[in-house]
Amino acid sequence: MRQFTHIKIMYIACFFIFALSIEVTTKDFQPIGTVNPSKYIPAQKKISESKNGMVTTQHFIATRVGEKILNQGGNAYDAAIAVGFTLAVVLPRAGNIGGGGFMVMHDSATNKNYSIDYREMAPAKSFTDMYLNEDGSFNTRKLSTFGYLASGVPGTVAGLWEVHQKFGSLDWELLLEDAIHYAENGFEITPYMGDMLTKYKEKLSYFESTKKIFMKNNPDFTGSTLIQKDLANTLKIIAKKGKDGFYKGEVAQKISVQMQKNGGFITEDDLIAYRPQWRKPLISNYRNNKIITMGPPSSGGIHVIQMLNILENHDLKEIGHNTPAYINLLTEVMKYAYADRSKHLGDPDFFNVPVSEIIDKQYAATINSKIKLGESNPSSNILPGSFNDNESIETTHFSVADKNGNVVSSTYTLNSTFGSGVTIEGTGILMNNEMDDFSAAPGIPNQFGLLGAKANEIQPKKRPLSSMTPTIVMKNEELFFTTGSPGGSRIISAVLQSIINIIDFDMNLEEANEAKRIHHQWQPDILQIELSLNDEIKNELQKLNYDVQVINPATCLQLIMKKNNTFYGYGDFRRPDAFASGDIYD
Ligand code: DON
Repeated sequence: MRQFTHIKIMYIACFFIFALSIEVTTKDFQPIGTVNPSKYIPAQKKISESKNGMVTTQHFIATRVGEKILNQGGNAYDAAIAVGFTLAVVLPRAGNIGGGGFMVMHDSATNKNYSIDYREMAPAKSFTDMYLNEDGSFNTRKLSTFGYLASGVPGTVAGLWEVHQKFGSLDWELLLEDAIHYAENGFEITPYMGDMLTKYKEKLSYFESTKKIFMKNNPDFTGSTLIQKDLANTLKIIAKKGKDGFYKGEVAQKISVQMQKNGGFITEDDLIAYRPQWRKPLISNYRNNKIITMGPPSSGGIHVIQMLNILENHDLKEIGHNTPAYINLLTEVMKYAYADRSKHLGDPDFFNVPVSEIIDKQYAATINSKIKLGESNPSSNILPGSFNDNESIETTHFSVADKNGNVVSSTYTLNSTFGSGVTIEGTGILMNNEMDDFSAAPGIPNQFGLLGAKANEIQPKKRPLSSMTPTIVMKNEELFFTTGSPGGSRIISAVLQSIINIIDFDMNLEEANEAKRIHHQWQPDILQIELSLNDEIKNELQKLNYDVQVINPATCLQLIMKKNNTFYGYGDFRRPDAFASGDIYD
């Protein structure tokens, strides 16, 4: 019953889509206006359209802020930075300054593609066996997901700062104004956010510093105002001092002091030493479209390209979307990719990741020759992983395209919903639990059921392996579409399917988003299908010996497309409050 209600809410609250009108406004700060969440539910079901640019995020306030920055003459980078800070306020379960992520960019002035890794780093004091008992067994006290030992050194502020240094056109301070405004004056809690606060009551009540912010309106969350004064103050310091406002001085000291007091590892030295990394984006070709995506320490891009390379050997349209034969093919392809992930992927600064080998078209052809359609190869060899659906997951993706041809696609996260549950006293900073993305030990699955090996073992200053897959697809040297999603291990399969839906099946954004997604990650050997499955297809798949599991949606694509000089945007119904930019006011 609960599950049914949940699904129903998601459907009712779908699609907040409106046309975008971009005008030039003054530079004086004007908040975007009062936002009444009830206006979004039920929402319009329409693809957003604009000639002047597009913003898609998982919260309508953040979308509106990005749009305002474009209106003020800012470029896509400026808007993305403002969105990143605003999401830290209005989407605290995933938006963050206490976490990290990746951003892929196409820059029109240089006609070049860039990617930046602002992923968290393991603190210097961390060590390979830190989540194991003395006898080598796994410590089941959830130390990697909850509390002080779960956090890596945050990268978001440094990442956004670095992007601003290279590409920003408006003042840094101006880009934080809206985030500060919503932290200081509050914003109305939507029914979806109210549900999340209720669901996570226990986690958000454990640490006093977190409880006093997020449980203040308990139990009547929906419709009340969430005010985050300490976070506003931290954002003001960052606005004034740039990244040093976070990594040095009073904020850094507060993080370090609270960590040391409570057995955490992050020190002021770790914060000062944190550096985001510009990395070469991975670029490949799929049926004459250019795929520009994130390389290691994300596994997302490499495996999306690997799977596209295998699928290129098939006529998917001929096979038919989401038919048993199609699901059979995709599932077998996914098994090979996720199997490689578990062994070969990790932080390239620490481990030699065989990127060119994995994305080699010949390697794809070899895998393709092993796949026997009409059969399923059982996943085997290592300890079975396990999914823990109770520990919900939350990341968020945002994309911005401006009228000058700049495109930004970024996914960032605290990892689990509300991260480690720890807020640093006096700062409002909710900390990530990204250390769980390392492999605690061979054969020990992380919260997404993912297995890892030496490539992804914990080492000081190393970045945990990620599945986040911010991606830009170009055609004839112009933007075709952007894609990206939250969903842990399922991000990779969701992004893959968004690409095939648009390229192979000519779907528009609504269709590409709405289509049911499947997921298989090799271990555990389970084929997941969203929401429901018609009996006939289920029978066919079971005949092939698939262990089929119907799951609630776990991903949320934010898509922008450009066609005939018009931008289109679409917010995924799977997480209410998400939407593409447009006129959300009366
Ligand atoms: O980097 C990763 O792969 C994970 N930390 C992402 C977590 C995530 O997507 C949770 N969201 N739904």
